[in-house]
Amino acid sequence: MKLSAVILAAGQGTRMKSSLPKVLHLILGKPMAWYAIEAARQITGKKPVMVIGHAADQVRHVLGDQAEYVLQEPQLGTGHALMQAEHLLSGQCDLVLVTYADMPLLTRETLARLVEVAQSHTGPVSMLTVTTAETRGFGRILRDPSGQVSGIVEEAQASPEQLGIHELNPGVYCFRAEWLWPALKRIRLSPKGEYYLTDLVGLAVADGHMIRTIDLAEPDEVIGINTRVHLAQAETLLRQRINRQWMLAGVTMINPLSTYIEPEVTLGQDTILWPGTFLHGSTRIGKGCEIGPDTIIKDTQVGDDCTLLASVLESAVLENHVEMGPYCHLRKGAYLSTGVHMGNFGEVKNSTLGPGAKMGHFSYMGDATVGPDVNIGAGTITCNYDGEHKYPTEIGEGAFIGSDTMLVAPVKIGAGAKTGAGAVVTKDIPPNSLAVGVPARVIRELKK
Ligand code: UD1
Ligand code: CA
Repeated sequence: MKLSAVILAAGQGTRMKSSLPKVLHLILGKPMAWYAIEAARQITGKKPVMVIGHAADQVRHVLGDQAEYVLQEPQLGTGHALMQAEHLLSGQCDLVLVTYADMPLLTRETLARLVEVAQSHTGPVSMLTVTTAETRGFGRILRDPSGQVSGIVEEAQASPEQLGIHELNPGVYCFRAEWLWPALKRIRLSPKGEYYLTDLVGLAVADGHMIRTIDLAEPDEVIGINTRVHLAQAETLLRQRINRQWMLAGVTMINPLSTYIEPEVTLGQDTILWPGTFLHGSTRIGKGCEIGPDTIIKDTQVGDDCTLLASVLESAVLENHVEMGPYCHLRKGAYLSTGVHMGNFGEVKNSTLGPGAKMGHFSYMGDATVGPDVNIGAGTITCNYDGEHKYPTEIGEGAFIGSDTMLVAPVKIGAGAKTGAGAVVTKDIPPNSLAVGVPARVIRELKK
């Protein structure tokens, strides 16, 4: 059976008290709606249809081509929202899965179970339910004396007796499309002036159909985000889920509570994460690494057996056996080859450090190409910027840069060359020669 997903996201989310649309608030570095989109995409194998309304342009701009969009204007309730998807989906699918953009904890496993039930069910409505005393404003599930679902009543319209029902409607359904599209047109305006999607349940029952329900064992999955308190709760739960998954995959966490890993990060076996480690974006960490404490890594690739202590890395690449820290900063375009050692207070930007290069203390390499086995003395700096332009520095294999050398770019240091302490290098230095002074001059050749 062909399956499509619709994600409702047109509501305003006033309780966030924000100029940012609710579904764009970040959870672990991703807009809240990303989680619903991902779960739906994994179940259906295609882009979901997202119903947008409030701040539609901004939502579409941020989420881009991850979803197809339909506009709901004005927003006349959840039933009216789903109607907007009809022109895209009518005749295109047999089953329609409906979820919300503000339920980021709902797992694809749960959605898969719902779809499975819907496929085997001859009736037009299958839905999740959740049983919990924490009613959170959810609609109540009504059942007849034989235990069959007879309808849903919204909290605002529920009688005191109905308010005592703890079987709740999370708002996640799977409908048979051929029944759904005409049925939506039969929904009447509610006392609040909205078209309630929940009325479809009563309509299906009136049509003589049975409703199939799946009771969610884990109420956390359907926490809907309405306030920033919920936002923080959801992030905590998602972070625990991700951390648990990596620990089960062979990653050690000294303190999982203070370890932050975004959903697209990957980690290799036997890597150890110390407290205060933050792994962002598309970061990939290899096997057998030791990271942290207090290390922030963003969009960076780290090979195997690297040790990174109290450092900040952004858009960098590290091969294997790199040692770094404490207090190093890798910026965009830093490439550290196998066996590089960076000691305290090093900064590298848009530069390659060759295999085995060492940069032990207080140095800056910007726009530089550093050859294999180069030793960069304490306090060495590439003066790569003259206030207007950036210039490159090249340091050849095995060169030895003396402490406190200023490399005034553009400049080349030949392979095997040396600079004296405090040299200010303004002109190229040939291979295997020693240059000293301000400005640096070659004073002799060196034995190879
Ligand atoms: C809805 C359900 C309720 C359920 C609850 C679970 C209805 C009538 N009620 O109530 O039974 O317990 O969800 O969270 O469906 N939306 C639109 N367009 C609209 C209105 C809403 O796209 O015109 C979207 C919202 O952005 C949100 C979702 O639909 O993602 C739910 O809307 P919300 O107003 O929160 O519904 P509830 O009143 O909480
Ligand atoms: Ca809600």
